[in-house]
Amino acid sequence: MKPTFYLTTPIYYVNDVPHIGHAYTTVAADVLARYKRLMGYDVYFLTGSDEHGQKVEKAATTAGETPLELADRVVKRFQALWDRLGISRNDFIRTTQERHKRGVSQIFKDILDSGDIYLGEYEDWYCTPCETFWTETQLIDGRCPDCNRPVEKLKEESYFFRMSKYQEQLLAHIEANPDFIQPKSKRNEIISFVKEGLRDLSVSRTTFSWGIPVPGNDRHIIYVWFDALTNYITALGFPDKTGNYGRYWPVDVQLIGKDILRFHAVYWPTFLMAAGLPLPKKVFAHGWWTVEGQKMSKSLQNVVEPNMLIDKYGVDAVRYFLLREVPFGLDGDFSHSALINRINSDLANDVGNLLSRSTAMAVKYFDGVLHSPSSLTEIDIALKQRTEEMVTTVEKLMDELAFSKTLQAIWEVISAGNKYIDDTAPWTLAKDPANNERLATVMYCLLESQRIVHCLLSSFLPSTAQKALASLGSSDAVSKDVLAWGGLQAGTKIIKAEALFPRIEE
Ligand code: ME8
Ligand code: MG
Repeated sequence: MKPTFYLTTPIYYVNDVPHIGHAYTTVAADVLARYKRLMGYDVYFLTGSDEHGQKVEKAATTAGETPLELADRVVKRFQALWDRLGISRNDFIRTTQERHKRGVSQIFKDILDSGDIYLGEYEDWYCTPCETFWTETQLIDGRCPDCNRPVEKLKEESYFFRMSKYQEQLLAHIEANPDFIQPKSKRNEIISFVKEGLRDLSVSRTTFSWGIPVPGNDRHIIYVWFDALTNYITALGFPDKTGNYGRYWPVDVQLIGKDILRFHAVYWPTFLMAAGLPLPKKVFAHGWWTVEGQKMSKSLQNVVEPNMLIDKYGVDAVRYFLLREVPFGLDGDFSHSALINRINSDLANDVGNLLSRSTAMAVKYFDGVLHSPSSLTEIDIALKQRTEEMVTTVEKLMDELAFSKTLQAIWEVISAGNKYIDDTAPWTLAKDPANNERLATVMYCLLESQRIVHCLLSSFLPSTAQKALASLGSSDAVSKDVLAWGGLQAGTKIIKAEALFPRIEE
């Protein structure tokens, strides 16, 4: 039986339409899902939408719709974007679905019955854009310390989760599992946060109605973050533990942005502890994108719309840019000029040019028919070894979610391919038929190296890799075996590749 691999993205709020930040997390998750499938895992890749809470209710009121009408409309935009971006999700959960509501009620009830949720009164501050509770002392200049927007004072009856009780257990878990929270800098932030002391957490609201009622007391709506975080198990069928839950939980990797780390690294694990359920294996918080040096925001009107980027530059160029430009875990800046640079140099010049040059030569010198290599010389062996080492390096780097370094490792072999052409000078060999066997060997090594490159690139650039593999007479990369040197068979028909990426003139 295949080993399983479960990975998730955040579920995105439907008060806002998808932008480049949402696309970033989701593309990263997709690349990982595709790579793990290639490596032989039984992958379950979940994304979805967060549809309850005060923020969505307010947005619906403003739009003159019911919250569900708003959600139905916006969720289609997310799903259409994920289709366009080639997001190979296995499931898409909406928190308004019955399967989700049932699971949330159950886990809430389990914790209530165990005594770790109790009724009290909340008197403090609330930030609706962040859906977060704050104490007076946490506010900065009377505003939300996370987003700097105004907060409102709440005084209402509320259920509380006994988070304080789990402080030591959580710390012990984080310390015993160095990979649980990544990257390291973020892990350290969480450790200090927990050490400062965990307070009990308000987990219900009474002043609006858009959400899941507290079991047995429907004057209360379950706090939207309690509701939302639970999606990671309700999508697997929880409370039923026999099906996908039994198969895939605990989750292998949860990808999130750094803005919501506290919810995923503190609240979520303590909820699970209280419910007696296993904790996620890893949560990875990536950095934040700015746009041309500025924070992306509606009021600055600089929100980068992924559909517009795709129209202009193509899906694979956008996917490539997002994962290559910034090391995963660090902040980065989006600009059109940076994107165009990447397209022209890395995609058009390096990978695209190499493929069109090599396939053109195969057509010119051998009518596009691939011949078996004869004995390899030193320079051939060097290219073969670099290609083989790349496969191993990529495996290690992908385990670290080092997407940018992974692409760099692949690009080293692409550069090596371009250099191999210059060094072997096939056009000189072609002048004398006596060199035919040598020329055939050179063509084999050159094309075989690229076949393996494109098998690995199929996780990042699915449609480009598919085109490239087709011109190399190869089928799509479906299993780990395709990564071994020697896959190209004599007699294979090579077709001259069209430019994979046209150059963009600024
Ligand atoms: O927080 N740069 O949803 P959300 C990088 N519903 N990533 C960004 C980004 C940026 N500028 N802006 C957003 C929520 N993101 C909750 C989550 S999960 C149980 C509930 C990405 O619609 C990043 O992944 O505000 C961030 O964590 C997520 O979008 C927040 O999306
Ligand atoms: Mg947000």
